[in-house]
Amino acid sequence: MTLNPASQRVESGSRQAHDDAETCTKILEVMEKLSQVKDVHALLAEVLLQARRLTRADAGSIYLIENNVLNFSYIHNDTLFGASGVNRYLYANHTLAIDNHSLSGYVALTGKPLLLDDAYHLPPGMPFDFNDSFDRRSGYRTQSILAVPLVTSRNKTVGVMQIINPLNDDRQPSAFTPGDLLLLKHFADNAAAAIERAMMTREIIMRMIQMCELRDPKETGLHANRVGAFAAEVYHQWSFKQGIADDEIKRNKDSLRIAAMLHDLGKVAISDLILRKPDKLNAEEFRIMQYHTIHGARLFRNQESDLDMLSAEIALNHHEKWDGTGYPGKIDDIYQDQPRLGQGKQGEEIPIAARIVALADIYDALMSRRVYKGAWSEATTLNYIQNQSGKLFDPAVVDAFLAIYDVITAIRDKYQEEAVSPGREASP
Ligand SMILES: [Fe+2]
Ligand SMILES: [Fe+2]
Repeated sequence: MTLNPASQRVESGSRQAHDDAETCTKILEVMEKLSQVKDVHALLAEVLLQARRLTRADAGSIYLIENNVLNFSYIHNDTLFGASGVNRYLYANHTLAIDNHSLSGYVALTGKPLLLDDAYHLPPGMPFDFNDSFDRRSGYRTQSILAVPLVTSRNKTVGVMQIINPLNDDRQPSAFTPGDLLLLKHFADNAAAAIERAMMTREIIMRMIQMCELRDPKETGLHANRVGAFAAEVYHQWSFKQGIADDEIKRNKDSLRIAAMLHDLGKVAISDLILRKPDKLNAEEFRIMQYHTIHGARLFRNQESDLDMLSAEIALNHHEKWDGTGYPGKIDDIYQDQPRLGQGKQGEEIPIAARIVALADIYDALMSRRVYKGAWSEATTLNYIQNQSGKLFDPAVVDAFLAIYDVITAIRDKYQEEAVSPGREASP
């Protein structure tokens, strides 16, 4: 059969148009998904996942610009740590200057995307070197790299996304194509707006926490960041063990991280004399202090979103204990004037999110130095947590926490306090 070259062109042209339309539909669907994500970390996970799906990339990472440097913010690598699950690399802590010394720095500086067939054989004249330290540490072999700036519609560069090693049908690394570059650039332009929105939400939340910190110096932004990240990862592990569907885990984890950060917001309604008292609270002061849980829950009264509901649930229940000895207990109506504190909730009467935040909050408080106590050592703290499994803490939550302890440590390293002289270790 002879082929008519003209009709072949028309056919391949219409196939191209069909492929383009399909890609546009895919991107629109993805954007709709992204618009529902609230937490910036959950959003970066989704952006990277979708970018990799569009190009079949094995790995990738995102850097966000904060304080004029590129902050390492997210990483995926299917070969090294699987498509999902909890891993400590997510909390690696490093920054790059926005300059010619690194590939991402160059992309952020120039605003130009980059496509490299083989990172180890750069074309001559490239103004930067490939940094192979991750490959050397992990044994991974980076080959083809596609890096694009994340630029909003107002022309503001918010970060850089790079994806690595597209896999062919035999799941072997191949090279990205100019078509992949166009696709990723289009996707990145759309994703940048969603990332900027999530960064703004995060800033507003951090400001709320700073307001709280002005009242109670113990409730620092770093403490909130740590408790939020601990809670999100412990939930991930716990829900994975429970066999909860991936999509539901992702959705809940997104809200949980923010809601957990706001656990002590109700302290803004407690008097300075109590919040800043350096000594132990007396019985009446402690009774008043317990109301910070109720004040916190009331702040989310409108409960217009899942996030509001979860924030209220955590604020109200984060001091309940598995064995029923916590507070504020069962209360008919938290909105009445001065409600009476009730009988402590017990076991699964306490919502799972609050059971997780309770452990995350106490772990962080014990490991931190406070006016009235030095930081406990790690061994003492872990011993205490294990001893309290089934008493103060839900045993399944303790198990999940210990199973991902390398991630917990990485979170502590990422959000660590300024160096202080070590405090004395208090006894439990
Ligand atoms: Fe609290
Ligand atoms: Fe706290």
